[in-house]
Amino acid sequence: MTFPQTGLWRHHDRLPVRDAAAVVTLGEGDTPVIDISATVGAAVGLRRLWLKCEDRNPTGSFKARIAAVAYALVRERGLAGAVGTSSGNGGAAAAAYAAAAGSRAVLFTLSDTVAAKLREIVAVGGIACRVTGVGHDAASTRTVADLIAAAAAQAGCYPLLTGFHYAPEAMTGVQTIAYELAEQTPYATRVYLPVGGGGLLTGVHRGYRDLAGPQPMLIGVQPAGAGSLRAAVEGHPEGIAGQVTTAVSGLQMAALFDAVGAPEALRATGGHDVAVPDTAIEAAQALLARFGLLVEPAGATALAGAIADLAAGRLDPDEPIVVVATGAGHKDTAALDRLVAARLDAAWPDDATVVPTITPDEVPERLAQLLGGRP
Ligand SMILES: Cc1ncc(COP(=O)(O)O)c(C=O)c1O
Repeated sequence: MTFPQTGLWRHHDRLPVRDAAAVVTLGEGDTPVIDISATVGAAVGLRRLWLKCEDRNPTGSFKARIAAVAYALVRERGLAGAVGTSSGNGGAAAAAYAAAAGSRAVLFTLSDTVAAKLREIVAVGGIACRVTGVGHDAASTRTVADLIAAAAAQAGCYPLLTGFHYAPEAMTGVQTIAYELAEQTPYATRVYLPVGGGGLLTGVHRGYRDLAGPQPMLIGVQPAGAGSLRAAVEGHPEGIAGQVTTAVSGLQMAALFDAVGAPEALRATGGHDVAVPDTAIEAAQALLARFGLLVEPAGATALAGAIADLAAGRLDPDEPIVVVATGAGHKDTAALDRLVAARLDAAWPDDATVVPTITPDEVPERLAQLLGGRP
């Protein structure tokens, strides 16, 4: 039995899985990088802009990389399954890989995890339970995470909390993003990444560090209404004092899981953190959608950070940069509805607020109307 030669498993020699027979793959990794300089870049004044499309992973987010490694370890070690916390995407990935592995996934999610992500978990057989306070306040976030990690170990399950602090082996899956970027965009001098618990930022840093090649500056972008990265950078690894106020699903984290690794990634690469309001994230999501790239708000957050840096004079418009799009557009239907409302206004002459339904007889007239009277 040999390891798959494609996707994430091309890098198996850098991953903790030893038994190729334990691998379960849904096609994770080797996501495309698209040059968006002429479209999105031109619209905002960034002349060398690339998008790393992590939304193209199985289950629509980069978390598939983590779940793939986790369930290979579950199988290799004969564990009973995985138990974790999740804002939704990690859970969706865990549930899918559990199903593929013939194993099980138990997820404790945020109380307001968006409906589509919860459905993704349950539809493939994951067990989900919503917990109040998690993500929203630092004490609940940390207490519940510590409790679940300990209980998982006791029950003979893998602790699938997506941070190096809790699941250092599974999180090596994130490092493969850096291995791919080193091949795909070796000229990039900056990589912008969204930050929730800080695992993505930490993992990409560790991945580049492994390669010992050129290390781009890493920039962590968080909604201003989360604040836990800023707090950690300012010496408060325990998180923020109050509640998070951002509505960006996936980035509602009052305390970082990787409160050491994330600030270290910024320091070691000469990078910095950027705080952006939810409105700027929504605008970045709409901008990507304008050019056919439909991602969830968290997936547009890195772009919002680059735009903010450009406006603040912290980024040269000619610098070659990568922004990482982490999650797919179908995951947050409220955000989709916002985009749709704006578009319907523009597309339909009669102020439709939903896509209109017409009879077959009305088709020719509608068509003529929509095509401006041309046949
Ligand atoms: C789409 C998306 N982007 C970014 C993140 C943040 O990743 P991390 O928690 O590793 O910082 C998450 C986390 O759930 C996510 O779902």
